[in-house]
Amino acid sequence: MLRNVPLFKELGDEDLAVIADLAVERQISRGAVILTEGDLGDSLFAIMSGRVKVFIGDEDGREIILKILGPGEFFGEMALIDKQPRSASVTALEATTLKVLSQSAFQECLKRAPKIATTVMTSLAKRLRDADKKISTLALMDVYGRVANTLLELAIETDGKLVVGEKLSQQEIANMVGASREMVNRILKDLSERGYISIESKQITIHDNKLPPSF
Ligand code: CMP
Repeated sequence: MLRNVPLFKELGDEDLAVIADLAVERQISRGAVILTEGDLGDSLFAIMSGRVKVFIGDEDGREIILKILGPGEFFGEMALIDKQPRSASVTALEATTLKVLSQSAFQECLKRAPKIATTVMTSLAKRLRDADKKISTLALMDVYGRVANTLLELAIETDGKLVVGEKLSQQEIANMVGASREMVNRILKDLSERGYISIESKQITIHDNKLPPSF
């Protein structure tokens, strides 16, 4: 199973077997907190199955979702690298299976396959790029544009149709674009009435990949 995680793709069979022994499997139920922003942490998590959301919240329970991660992806590397508290919180959006690597197991990985450091750097660069994009959309686009942009970013082609890969609630979309659920509801309704999208049991299909910029 570890073979499917890009982080470990540089490891040979023997090294992979050692890491498989060092990694502890954890089953997480839907909605459970995996790690909390500000906590000290010394483990890295690879997602075997399921989906998690990475977010920052405030005391009033409001949150901004930074990213949704799925199988093959990893998280928790930042606190391992810079020895600072966790930069964000992570909870499971559905039943999720993780492999947990301690700081020492991660060091063992790096010793056995130094190229893993490049994989981690590449992933950090991609996350910074995505975060830059997010900052620019939050600062420069209106809510309508942010919702449309997010739908397009999450869209994947399935059976010749463009569908939003994640089945998201309106609240989750609102938390991704920094808007209220009511506003997202209005925008999705408008996009739907204008024929740009259709929604069936939370599955959004995009009919026109040039979504309109505003009402
Ligand atoms: P860490 O800071 O240890 O704990 C929270 C984790 O969330 C962090 O490591 C990263 O793995 C992940 N994370 C934080 N910010 C982002 C982001 N913008 N995109 C994707 N993952 C992130």
